[in-house]
Amino acid sequence: MCGIVGIVGCKEKLGDMLLDSIKKLEYRGYDSAGITTVSENKILIRKDVGKIDEVNKKVNFSELKGNIGLGHTRWATCGRVTKENSHPHTDCKEEISIVHNGIIENHSELKKELIEKGHKFQSETDTEVIAHLIEDNYDGDIKEATTKALKKIEGSYALGIISAKEPEKLIAARNESPLIIGVGKNENFIASDVPAILSHTKKIIYLDNKELAVLTQDNITVFDLNGNEIKKEINEIDWNAEMAEKQGYTHFMLKEIHEQPRALTETINGRIKNNRVDLKEELNLSSKELSEIKRIVIVACGTSWHAALAGEFMFEELAKISTEVEYASEFRYRHPIISKDDLLIAISQSGETADTLAALREAKKQGAKILSICNVKGSSIDRESDIVLYTHAGPEIGVASTKAFTTQLVVLYLLTLYLSQLRKTLDDNTIQDLIANLRKLPLQLEKVFNNEEEIKKLANIYYNKSNALYLGRGVNYPIALEGALKLKEISYIHAEGYPAAEMKHGPIALIDKEMPVIFVAPKDIYTYKKVLSNIEEVKARGGIVIVIATEGDEEIKKIVDHVIYIPKNLYTLSSILAVVPLQLLAYYIAKKRGCDIDRPKNLSKVVTVE
Ligand code: AGP
Repeated sequence: MCGIVGIVGCKEKLGDMLLDSIKKLEYRGYDSAGITTVSENKILIRKDVGKIDEVNKKVNFSELKGNIGLGHTRWATCGRVTKENSHPHTDCKEEISIVHNGIIENHSELKKELIEKGHKFQSETDTEVIAHLIEDNYDGDIKEATTKALKKIEGSYALGIISAKEPEKLIAARNESPLIIGVGKNENFIASDVPAILSHTKKIIYLDNKELAVLTQDNITVFDLNGNEIKKEINEIDWNAEMAEKQGYTHFMLKEIHEQPRALTETINGRIKNNRVDLKEELNLSSKELSEIKRIVIVACGTSWHAALAGEFMFEELAKISTEVEYASEFRYRHPIISKDDLLIAISQSGETADTLAALREAKKQGAKILSICNVKGSSIDRESDIVLYTHAGPEIGVASTKAFTTQLVVLYLLTLYLSQLRKTLDDNTIQDLIANLRKLPLQLEKVFNNEEEIKKLANIYYNKSNALYLGRGVNYPIALEGALKLKEISYIHAEGYPAAEMKHGPIALIDKEMPVIFVAPKDIYTYKKVLSNIEEVKARGGIVIVIATEGDEEIKKIVDHVIYIPKNLYTLSSILAVVPLQLLAYYIAKKRGCDIDRPKNLSKVVTVE
């Protein structure tokens, strides 16, 4: 996700004001930044790659004049991290300038039509297509031209638009991506998020999907895309600046846990067309090459390694491709045998983890094709891979990985389905059923938060325990591992994840009422009954059992101490839902213990050392 800001009626130093505002949104994205203003009926633009301060040193935003302008800090989703691809973007004549957060799903078709009409493009981005589409519809009224352009666009957008020909108007529009309007005194604002404008006003108008606003220094009018004016209420924000950056959440981790429904939506967006998974633009491998993959080897660390284990289930169960998962740190030193028929997948949120990067280089040396699943465009792992499938989770600030993990699982699932389509390991009906259930996930994830108070109560009961055991079978075993990692890394309680069946080969010796046992046990057709037996084994030894179970499962409720329900979905997809209660449990236990949740001791967000 990116951060956008806009000001109309500015009487202070416009460049400094916009710079200050986009810096407040840097947590939303920081691989490039830019500012645009209108001065003496000319569009001015300064932009470059790098964090905001680095860009400012290069371009000196303070020199930008005028009383209307836009700012942007980028989290690249479409188009590499380059100066040309950084925002703002303009039309051919540089009379319209725009900033955008979101993904335009039909940008390729629109770009083709515009090029055929003679439009010249400077970048690879979907955003620039919007600028030319507005230009193509411009007939003296920037609001009308924008409305016509938006009717042709499919996908998510939060847009700020200014025009050299109508320098008194700032146009704003949104669909899916957040955008607010700040109501000032003889000046008005737009922003992706409250922190950017909180120092100027606490009066906010929330734009809804498919709405467009015209801001001047004294007036704000909101319309639907049919041109009907819409009355909007003005809300008063009661946050302080620090809270605002976390959107009112106490910690980035909690904010990012709650961002997961949107992160899943943005990760799925644009990758399902005509009810089939479509990754051909991103996977620059021919169908033949993809069909001939003999083996998949996945390398990763920490949470990303847990995602890799879940991916192994997906690839082998659905795409019927032999898959091996390795700790990146082990892989690189154990003289692995890799061939050109192998696909090496490197999973990394940061794209900078030294062990994962080294493992990728080792496999590349031996001729494997390299595909990475990464959350940061322009990162080392991104740049050194042959193919990259991005998670569109947006910047993950909390050290404990949450939304990156669930979006990694969704990307693995999409890749599995795409390979299954190519290799015909599943019939069309099955594929469409899997896609339909994948599409349900974001909304189902929203429902998981209905249990948040219940989970808080559990945290208050068990926060002072010294040990915990997390158990799961099949694809829920990696989820158990992830739940254990979350607890230990932010609350410092010793927690272990184990395959549930493995408990009787050792860990059962530890069972007592002092060690809560958390089972990840969504109802499935594979091992559910066996998990019930494992729960009985724990209860027979006086253990305490908390279970993550499927809504409506009354049987399991009778034999455990606590149940946290999740909505019903297919086997692998339920495991993506099941991890969120475990993230929340770890968060509230750590909070109760007074831990520094966003910056846990001894840990760092990116481990760039061996
Ligand atoms: C997860 O909560 C931890 N922060 C850590 O295990 C992390 O997953 C690991 O360091 C890998 O990071 P990456 O995904 O950025 O490569």
